[in-house]
Amino acid sequence: MHISTYLSRSLYILLCVAVPLYLGIRGSDSSFGTDFLFSSLSERAKALHVALTSPLAAHSAPNHEAPFQASVEPENPVRAPGEGRGKRYPSVLAGLAHCINSFEQYPFLAEQVLQRKYARYSKQTPAQMAISKKLGYPAHFEKARGGIEANAQFSEKIAQIAREKYDIGPLSLNDNEDAEFGVIDSAFSLLSRDWSTQGAKERQAVFPPILSALGQHFGGTGGGSKVLVPGSGMGRLASDLADIGYNVTANELDYGSILAYHLLTSHTSSLHQHTFQPFVTKWTHQADPSSRYSAITVPDHWPNKTVKLVEGDFLEMFPSDGEFDAVVTLFFIDISKSVIDFLSNIHRLLKPGGIWINLGPLKWGTHTALQLSAEEVLQLADLLGFDVDHTSRKSIDSLYVEQPETLLKFTYGECLLFPCEE
Ligand SMILES: C[S@@+](CC[C@H](N)C(=O)[O-])C[C@H]1O[C@@H](n2cnc3c(N)ncnc32)[C@H](O)[C@@H]1O
Ligand SMILES: *[C@@H]1O[C@H](CO)[C@@H](O)[C@H](O)[C@H]1NC(C)=O
Ligand SMILES: *[C@@H]1O[C@H](CO)[C@@H](O)[C@H](O)[C@H]1NC(C)=O
Repeated sequence: MHISTYLSRSLYILLCVAVPLYLGIRGSDSSFGTDFLFSSLSERAKALHVALTSPLAAHSAPNHEAPFQASVEPENPVRAPGEGRGKRYPSVLAGLAHCINSFEQYPFLAEQVLQRKYARYSKQTPAQMAISKKLGYPAHFEKARGGIEANAQFSEKIAQIAREKYDIGPLSLNDNEDAEFGVIDSAFSLLSRDWSTQGAKERQAVFPPILSALGQHFGGTGGGSKVLVPGSGMGRLASDLADIGYNVTANELDYGSILAYHLLTSHTSSLHQHTFQPFVTKWTHQADPSSRYSAITVPDHWPNKTVKLVEGDFLEMFPSDGEFDAVVTLFFIDISKSVIDFLSNIHRLLKPGGIWINLGPLKWGTHTALQLSAEEVLQLADLLGFDVDHTSRKSIDSLYVEQPETLLKFTYGECLLFPCEE
């Protein structure tokens, strides 16, 4: 079967904008970017390795003089290693339990992040402490806790809906060691990108080129053409495609995104209904202290309920060949363990004459078998039977889950103009 697939006008290689801020006083440190989404791994790893402190720390009223001192040293280590293991609800998928647990444990996990900040702050010399106080720095610990409380309500709601949807009931998933701050951190970042007005700028950079490539292939309206969006994240692109008239299937593996998406699609009765403050625990790259307390509201647009969400691995969930007129991958192919598997699967799923549209960086992880250049990705597509028009490649500048009001926006002029690599 000859599949004539047009990568013409369709393969966009994204140039990742990820640049350190250079101040005149001193160079920024090389840890830049580590607290961007998916890169907050060291923070997450730390969060996981620090024993959870007593819940009292999060519930006690803030002490004005020394808001966190009491909780810096855990009074009660949470549990002996191994305790509680084997008690997990057995029929819940591991990833689902992990995410529900993380959403439920958010207040404690966030508190730990603050406590680490507080520990570093309080290790200063008395003279440094006095100056820090003149800056008003200690007040941030308390204010951040207010934001954490607001976030906890939102996060708890996501978990509660998940328990209902997957019929888990009130049973305990209470393995604290399994809870991960990064789950909520990523969910907040991705929700902002996809469903807040603050995310519009990022979406505007990447959605229109995809829509126009599809439009050129199918004509103005979707006309019911079947489109698959694997790795759909929070689902905004899928929803926007449905709004135009495409018959859209979204597919996502990560319950962090899936659970938040359920809240948006099934438990939202007004626009901007849900509020969270994603930066109360992220104090980097900020121009103004108030940036720490920026509130994000979602959704800024109604998710299109005709989108069908398939939960699970893109490589396993679609047994039928030739099911789709188009596959759209946005910030997706570089996350694969094997790019050959991903591209072969896309090829298999397309109808004859179908189109694959890709937009995203080549920020290959270390777990990936091949770390290809853009040229090699196109060669691979050729080898797998795609019809590639090599002249169609475009470069598009974009940020990914940028923090609003961040100092980084002043650094556009210093963009590293090549596909991201680490
Ligand atoms: C970098 S994110 C991009 C999300 C979304 N496309 C966007 O632009 O915001 C990549 C997404 O792909 C998902 N993903 C990774 N491997 C997958 C697989 N094998 N099947 C389905 N989804 C997958 C991840 O969970 C993650 O949500
Ligand atoms: C949702 O998608 C359907 C199918 O593509 C479309 O007919 C409908 O207009 C969309 N809804 C909105 C609110 O745009
Ligand atoms: C999308 O396509 C499937 C079959 O491929 C069909 O069952 C479904 O009704 C279509 N949805 C819309 C909104 O047209």
